Amino acid sequence: MKKILIIGANGQIGSELIAALRGKYGAGNVVGFDLREPKEEQKKAGPFEVGDASKKEVLAAALDRHSIDTVFHLVALLSATGEKDPDLCWTLNMGSLKNVLDLAREKKLQVFWPSSIAAFGPATPKVKTPQETVMAPTTMYGVTKVAGELMCQYYKLKWGVDVRSVRYPGLISWKTPPGGGTTDYAVAIFYEALQKGSYECFVGQKTILPMMYMPDAIRGIMELMEAPKEKIKVNTSYNLAAISFSAQELADVVKKKVPGFSCSFKPDARQKIADSWPQSIDDSAARADWGWKHEYGLEKMADDMLENLKKKFGKK
Ligand code: SER
Repeated sequence: MKKILIIGANGQIGSELIAALRGKYGAGNVVGFDLREPKEEQKKAGPFEVGDASKKEVLAAALDRHSIDTVFHLVALLSATGEKDPDLCWTLNMGSLKNVLDLAREKKLQVFWPSSIAAFGPATPKVKTPQETVMAPTTMYGVTKVAGELMCQYYKLKWGVDVRSVRYPGLISWKTPPGGGTTDYAVAIFYEALQKGSYECFVGQKTILPMMYMPDAIRGIMELMEAPKEKIKVNTSYNLAAISFSAQELADVVKKKVPGFSCSFKPDARQKIADSWPQSIDDSAARADWGWKHEYGLEKMADDMLENLKKKFGKK
């Protein structure tokens, strides 16, 4: 049985991944790790460590205490927040990844680390972006993703570390609100549609970005980590795709499902970041190598988001 540590367990991905992994491997075999104190219900759900992932000795102690063999390393400052403090973005994102890779080498751990569409830049082909292409991002977050991918590849080739990665599109989820991402309008629109009946979108209506619903994202990385080693042929990070839509198309779908909802568009600094990223992704390598397949299209995702958020907000 695997013994898993999720670093960044209170974040957008971590808080959903921890429940899924505990369902599969047993609560006692999946340890949460985060800088932030967990809520009472999380404390009851299974083992949890509060600590700073940028301190290697703190991580090492947690790994030893729980005899960990598998790490999901999810800590990162995202694109918009990263532009506000590029130094912190570099230090946190790269420092914590280096710690995890060094410890993985030492302790023979399997590692998952997410890259992102932010690893691409303005010179990258925008439609059906290939697996192998120009990677010259213009945000610090994107720079840490390209550098991180190369670090993962280096540790794999040089020292045989079993590190696996995907380039996530924008992730849409209802359990934990995301923080500081450029793709967050695709989440905020649902929250505000139900809470306020209107939304002012911070990218223009024609902006198209690749997105994915969280249940697909979680299942995807669990399948990637379970795949036989010889099937993992990409040493950097796999392109992963699900749905691409414009901000207007998203607003239209929400309008159809939330009577009276209205959406206006007022692009801010995040527009420039959105414009530097692809519109759609060619993920045929992930589909061929380890059988990746998404389930949620735009309508199905919107229905599920609204149903769950209504429950969360106590609405009918
Ligand atoms: N969702 C992220 C962001 O917008 C991209 O990986 O920053």
